[in-house]
Amino acid sequence: MKQEFLDLGKQPIANRFLTKDEFDDEFFFDLKVVFDKETKLVSLKEFVAPEMMFNENYTYHSSTSYPMKEHFRKTAEMISITYNPFNNPFNVLEIGSNDGIFIRNFNPDNTIAVEPCGNFAKMTNDMGYKTYDKFWNTDLSKLIKQNHGKMDLIYAANCICHIHNLDDTFKAVRDLLSNDGVFVFEDPSLLRMMERGSYDQLYDEHAHIFSVTALDRLLERNGLTLIKVDNLLVHGGSNRIYVGLKDRYVVDNSVSNNLMNEKSFGLDRFETYQVFAERVNKSKNDLVSTLKSLKLEGKKIISYGATSKSTTVFNYCGIDNSLIDYITDTTEDKQGKYSPGTHIPVVSPDEGFDESVDIAYLGAWNFKDVIMNKEIEFTQRGGKFITHVPQVMMFS
Ligand code: TYD
Repeated sequence: MKQEFLDLGKQPIANRFLTKDEFDDEFFFDLKVVFDKETKLVSLKEFVAPEMMFNENYTYHSSTSYPMKEHFRKTAEMISITYNPFNNPFNVLEIGSNDGIFIRNFNPDNTIAVEPCGNFAKMTNDMGYKTYDKFWNTDLSKLIKQNHGKMDLIYAANCICHIHNLDDTFKAVRDLLSNDGVFVFEDPSLLRMMERGSYDQLYDEHAHIFSVTALDRLLERNGLTLIKVDNLLVHGGSNRIYVGLKDRYVVDNSVSNNLMNEKSFGLDRFETYQVFAERVNKSKNDLVSTLKSLKLEGKKIISYGATSKSTTVFNYCGIDNSLIDYITDTTEDKQGKYSPGTHIPVVSPDEGFDESVDIAYLGAWNFKDVIMNKEIEFTQRGGKFITHVPQVMMFS
């Protein structure tokens, strides 16, 4: 049984930055969040059709971010050393390969990719990695097995939580994994989201926010075993989940440690989510009243980073151009466009992050350290950042 605990109102496609002529036809859906009593899985109540989000217009380019490039290089190195120490022939598959940020670290001769966004699939095909321009499911995994044999590593980052049907997803993995193969995937951590009050992890693409508790149950019922968990700092707190076929690996202590931490936080109880919902409501009131009083003082407020996360915040809190003048973002594809739903203009930092700015709302709070290091001049001249994570506060 699924129980609703949070209503974030009408929301648009979070990563679809628009031109003015697209305003009238913009799609909205009800962003409500539910807890499944049986599996303990947290999901959106209403899923958005994947084709609306992941298509040839998808603008999220992983490789434009230097920290993420480094993250994936190190991940690829660590996985190779751990699971293929003697450098044997090793079949690698990535689900949701984006612009090749991870697979570029592997040999194209035995590495293949699955990527439904046509623009990115073309890119990695051109790089020499056979890329299937399709959504991941059991039909595709059968086709891949026929064409390439079983896989020794199946990897996915910020992708499995996008997929609506998890039973089908995990079955497809189980059928394609070699006997000693490993399935590694990383996605935002529910525990970190709940601890931090970062409700902006909830948007159309994130059909589920995973706890280790829920994954343990879902994997088990599809013939897979959770063997290890790494707690990561990326994307504001993610878990990297390692999975093998049943009884092939010794289960690491990190699995029981994570299960215990989640239990003591109460992730297996509905009441915990009700408390979270109250906190989210308070965060909204605090953010809006802070921005309004800063505006009354005559401060110029902008937003730093045109993120999907800030789409949730701005639409839920009703923050538009009257409070935030514009958003600055380094991504060229987003510049000159408008934020989803609230239609705040996006400009390049060169154009918009100048001496006239008093306050910058940190849309990209997950890159706080990188940004603070980069923007010392801004804070030294009295500029202040404002964030809602873990609670609404200003800092410099
Ligand atoms: P991201 O963390 O991917 O957020 P989401 O998954 O919620 O969309 O996006 C970070 C955005 O912030 C991306 O568009 C690039 C931008 N950005 C800047 O404009 N300047 C910076 O210094 C950094 C680190 C990011």
